Amino acid sequence: MVEAEQAYGQGHAESVVRSQHWRTVENSAAYLAPELRAGTDVLDVGCGPGTITVDIAERVAPGRVVGIDPSEAVLEQARANAAAAGVDNVVFQRGDVFALDAEAAAFDVVHAHQVLLHLVVVHGIGVTPAHPGWTLGFLLLTSFAFTAVVHALNAAFGPKGKFIALVVLVLQLVTAGGTFPWQTTPEVLHPLHKVLPLSYVVDALRQLIYGGTLADAGAAALVLGGYLVAGLLLSTIAAWRQRVWTPQRLKPELAL
Ligand SMILES: C[S@@+](CC[C@H](N)C(=O)[O-])C[C@H]1O[C@@H](n2cnc3c(N)ncnc32)[C@H](O)[C@@H]1O
Repeated sequence: MVEAEQAYGQGHAESVVRSQHWRTVENSAAYLAPELRAGTDVLDVGCGPGTITVDIAERVAPGRVVGIDPSEAVLEQARANAAAAGVDNVVFQRGDVFALDAEAAAFDVVHAHQVLLHLVVVHGIGVTPAHPGWTLGFLLLTSFAFTAVVHALNAAFGPKGKFIALVVLVLQLVTAGGTFPWQTTPEVLHPLHKVLPLSYVVDALRQLIYGGTLADAGAAALVLGGYLVAGLLLSTIAAWRQRVWTPQRLKPELAL
């Protein structure tokens, strides 16, 4: 069997496991819902803290559900989650997707959520971040900040905002230094490297994945946090200014 903690490239840091705790069939595995009828037996491979597995068990009761994972630490949490939900048709045990036995074929459904991608990244590509928890946290911050900025541009400028977001995206791809050194771009673009957020994302991910300094990543996180706050602020101002409908804003609907 794959060594438990080694198996999971992200590690089972509290922040990582916490991000998996809110998962349910509805918000993470809706594709599976139509297969989950009362009496269906399900094997959940790489179940992690088991919130999806417990939800599956509730839906298929009295069907038998087994969650397997190489990590005893998350299995314990999965058992606690099942107990807290009062679900008794599920068991959690150590197991490895690379060593499934004939018993696996006896289940009606064999399910794996976010396990195959994880295995490709870790075993296929060989990416095992030096700071897995911080990497995940930083990626979440990045997606919040970028979503906030795009939303703000949309809210403030409408369709023109979408175009501005597209232009900024292209400028970021050129100046961030993710695929080639930004110093080789025309000098006129250099200030953009210092200002646009993707440059900070690239730098921080290098530190976090390859084991550089957390201080540099922290500074980048502050910049991203600034973009997040600015995006939320601009959205709020745009929403506040547009809270009153005027005939002019309704014009397209009134034009016959
Ligand atoms: C991204 S988590 C997904 C957890 C859960 N399926 C969910 O979506 O909430 C990936 C899980 O795969 C497990 N895993 C890693 N290597 C595995 C292996 N060889 N066999 C089975 N599970 C594995 C990890 O321990 C981890 O809990």
